[in-house]
Order: sequence, then structure tokens, then C-alpha cells
Amino acid sequence: MTGNELRKLYVSYYKERGHELTAAGSLVPENDASVLYTTAGMQPLTPYLLGEEHPLGKRLVNVQRCVRTGDIEEVGDDYHLTVFEMLGNWSLGDYFKKEAISMSYEFLTDKIGIPPSKLAVTVYEGNDIVPYDSEAADTWIDLGINKNQIYYYGDDENWWGPTGETGPCGPDSEMFYINDTPDCSENCGPACSCGKYVELGNNVFMTYYKDKEGNLTELEQKNIDVGLGFERLLILANHFQNVYETDLFLPLIKRLEQLSGFKYDAYNEKSFRIICDHVRASVFILADSQKIVPTNSEQGYILRRIIRRTIRMMFKLGIEENIMLELAEKVIEIYCEAYPEIQSCKNHVFEELEKEYIKFTKTLQGGLKMANKYLDELNIGECLSGEKAFKLYDTYGFPIEFTLELAQEKDVFVDVEGFRLKFEEHQKKSRSGAAEKFKGGLADHNSNTIRLHTATHLLNSALREILGNHVYQKGSHINSERLRFDFSFDRKLSKEEISQVENIVNNAIQEEIDVDRMEMSLDDAKKIGAIGAFESKYEDTINVYKIPGYSLEICGGPHVSNTSELGFFKIIKEQSSSSGVRRIKAILDLDKK
Ligand code: ALA
Repeated sequence: MTGNELRKLYVSYYKERGHELTAAGSLVPENDASVLYTTAGMQPLTPYLLGEEHPLGKRLVNVQRCVRTGDIEEVGDDYHLTVFEMLGNWSLGDYFKKEAISMSYEFLTDKIGIPPSKLAVTVYEGNDIVPYDSEAADTWIDLGINKNQIYYYGDDENWWGPTGETGPCGPDSEMFYINDTPDCSENCGPACSCGKYVELGNNVFMTYYKDKEGNLTELEQKNIDVGLGFERLLILANHFQNVYETDLFLPLIKRLEQLSGFKYDAYNEKSFRIICDHVRASVFILADSQKIVPTNSEQGYILRRIIRRTIRMMFKLGIEENIMLELAEKVIEIYCEAYPEIQSCKNHVFEELEKEYIKFTKTLQGGLKMANKYLDELNIGECLSGEKAFKLYDTYGFPIEFTLELAQEKDVFVDVEGFRLKFEEHQKKSRSGAAEKFKGGLADHNSNTIRLHTATHLLNSALREILGNHVYQKGSHINSERLRFDFSFDRKLSKEEISQVENIVNNAIQEEIDVDRMEMSLDDAKKIGAIGAFESKYEDTINVYKIPGYSLEICGGPHVSNTSELGFFKIIKEQSSSSGVRRIKAILDLDKK
């Protein structure tokens, strides 16, 4: 069964039983500031659940795309998705529990073909205020569900809503597929996260309204709110093991295989799944009517994280091109029949994915290497210091969330509290630093100029190695885009010499060498062979920067901590500066390794 077939089957099943198809809402709730994204199909229907008359009547059905950010961490397993489609149906003060449960049951068993013996259901056990739901339990028993397939839980498991602080809510009865795995323990059941029980849907009996103070009042109009997991039903209807085998994902996985040149095998499985899920989610969000784009707050921040995590997974696999656009195109192809509006947003989706890729790769590449380096220095179970986590964030623009994810993959910990303290300390400093800037004209030390500064040291040594030790620095100027280096030499460099110099610098970058700073007297610096251009300016104690194997130079800094931060070194110009002095202009390409 295809996805399109299942959507149609579902809608027609409920239409045949008197339900009208109502349009789905945006992925971002339009009149509800309490949640960032639409998490359930009932959200756009809230006014009608509270008694307003719906133009289409009392029985409704639809398919609503929902984003559950809480599930993002689970993506990569067989079932969880960042965006899933909820098959929803409602009774607005019309029929109640018995009919709702019976239809859910019939749809799951007759239409999807799930054997009743493979279903488990849960029922609300009651609390001091709300009674045990005997009607739901009896209905399941009458339908033929075995008593030992019915589980009773309290408010934590069998109470639904409200989505925000206030709104309609009530006891519910959930339905699960029982996998063929053994129980994980004596208490294993639908509430257990071991994977044996897969939630398929929920019958909510909306009986109450919860107010700001947390009080429940009984609704005049009692509603049914049923939501079924579309992708999960599609897996079961086809006897598949996971969502990536369905026609919603398989073509996308295949496309990723083509584009990356890698196989979707046990080794790459999780990264493949995350990339496909996240690109799909990004397309849905970008194509939404609310025009969300990547930013640093709220919905835009979640989107940014999803896109950036995709990019990180691509890097992890070794994919250096931005293949997100080709993947997005596939997503659009898969979904354009069900959601034609996606097609018309294609250019906007592409543009935003491209922009975000460029932004992120610029900062990320150095950071990821450093993060791996720091984390690989730890043994399993050890903890990365808050200081290092902060350095990754501050110097390399590497988000703390990514450090946490990487750490989790490597079974080590991160001192998040230490990170937070450093972060706050830094914020205080930068606030007073901003004030200083007006007073003192602080030098322009941004991360690009610092990188180029370190590259200048490597270039200086490389020139001496290729052209001879009589070459020395005559001047240097750095801005955010390029370095300019003047040196004593009396002829044009050959193409070969230029590429030899570039190779030396790039070798040093690829070797990921730590840059050391040492303090010593000028005499000692000379003794150890440090070079330096403007000796007269130096104080008694001076800094020597050492890039072991490559460079030893007297210098005030600042420099990067590791050469891996430099990206790819390229000489863009070699020309005469004045008599006996040549000038080189060079750049660092952070997108290329
Ligand atoms: N609104 C109910 C849920 O999301 C159906 O579980």
C-alpha cells in the first residue's frame, strides 16, 4: 500500500461513517502562542472543541502534519519522525467512547490488517477527581480484546492535553502494536520504552477544560479526538519493519545512496535515516504557509537546528557537497500529490537550504574536528570540561547541542553546568568589552583574521623552506578576507614554487597541529631559532608561537589553537611590491578541506 492510498483509505472510511473532510492547519499554530509547532490535529479545531459550531458539522476527519520536537532525539530508530502525519477524526458533541473505539478498532484490524492478538490498549485508571474509565475498558472487551492485552495507567500515561497551559483535555485510551520481542522485564507494558510496544494512536475523551489555575471543569460538549500515526500504520499495512521501507522514504534513501556514493547499510543506517527525516522535515517547515526560515529563536531556531544537524550528519558520512537541494527535490516529488502547495514553494525551499548550508559550513568545519579531538582524548564515561565545551562554542561556533550529541555517540559526558558558567562569565565580559571598544579602539581580532594570522606564520616558514633562509618578512597586513605578506626576494615565483608553498601550508593544516604559545626572553627566543620581523618593538619577555615541525616565530598573537581550524590555504596573487620585495595575497577557504 502506498502512502497516498492509505490517506485515501482512511479519509473514505470515516467519510462513509458521516465525517466531513476538514482542511489541515499550518505546521505552526496560527492562534496559539503556547506551543511553537502544531503537535496534534486537534489544535486548529480548539474553538469547535470548546463549543463553537463547525461549518462542516459534528463529525470531522483530516490528515494533519505535526512536529514533535521531543521526538527529534529518537529519529533514526524504526518509527520516530520529526514531522509525522496524524490521521485525525472528531466527534464534536456527537457520538462518544463506544463508537469512537469501535471505529478505531475496525480500521486497525479490518483496513490495516493488524491481527487483534497483536494489539494492546491502555485505559485510564482514575484519580481522586476523575473516575476509572470502565466504559472504555468494557468496549475493548466487547470488541474481543483479551483482558491481558488491556493495561491501566494514571495521569502520566492516560490523560491527554491540554496542548498549552489551558484548553480541552480528558482521559484517553491508547492503542499499541505488540512487537515479537520478549518482555524487557516483569513490568514491561505499553508504558515501557523498550520498543516492544509501538504506539499507533490515541482515543481522547475530551470531557474537561483546564484553566490557568489548573482546575478542571466539565465541558458542556463532550468530544472525541482520535489521532492515528499515519506512517506507523503504513509500515504495518505493508508488513514492513520500519518507516524507511515505505514509499514515503525509500526513494529518498535511494537518492541519498546515489548522491553520496555510500550504501545504506548497517554502518551508515542511522545517519542516512536522520538525513532523510530532517531534510523532509525542513522541506515541510520551509514550505509552510507561516513562512518560517532559519533564525536564532523559536520556530526558526528549531528549523535551524534540524538543518544544521542534517549538515553535520552529511559531514559525518564524508559528504562534502551540499546535497540537501537534490534531496529536497525528491521529498517534493514524493509529497507533491498529497501536498501540492509544496511544489510551488520549491525555489524558496532551495534558497533557504543553500543559505543555511553556507552559513553553517563556514563555522562548523573547524569546530567539528576540534570537538572530535577533545572528545577522543577522553575514555568512555569521562567528562569534557565546561571550559573546553565553551571553547568549542566560542572559538569555533560549535553549538553545545552538537557537542552533547557527539559526546553521547562516544559514550562520554559534558560538564554542562561548567559550560553554562563560562557562558555567563563571557556574556558579562563582552558587555563590558563592548563599552571598552568605544574608549580604546580595540584591534580587529575576529576569527577570520586570527586564522589568517596563523596562516601567515605557516606561509613565512614555507617560503623560507622553498626559497631559502635568506627570505624574511618585510611586512604583513590582514583583513577578514585575505592575508597580504611582503618578503625579501628578487624574482617572480614559478607556478611550481607557489604550489609547493601552498602544499606545505595545507599539510600543516591537515596534520591538525596544536599551536603553542611560550613566554621567554628575546635572547632565549633567538637561541631556539625563533624568527621575528620587527625586533625593536619587543618587550623584555616576549611570546613565541610554535607550530611544531613548521614554524617558530616571535609574535604578540593571537592565534588559533590548532591548525585544523584554517580550512584550505590558497595563494591568489604573487607580484612585485617594490625593488627586491615580493608580495603574496592568500585566502583560507573554510568550505574546502
Ligand atoms: N490529540 C490526541 C493525541 O495527539 C489524539 O494523542
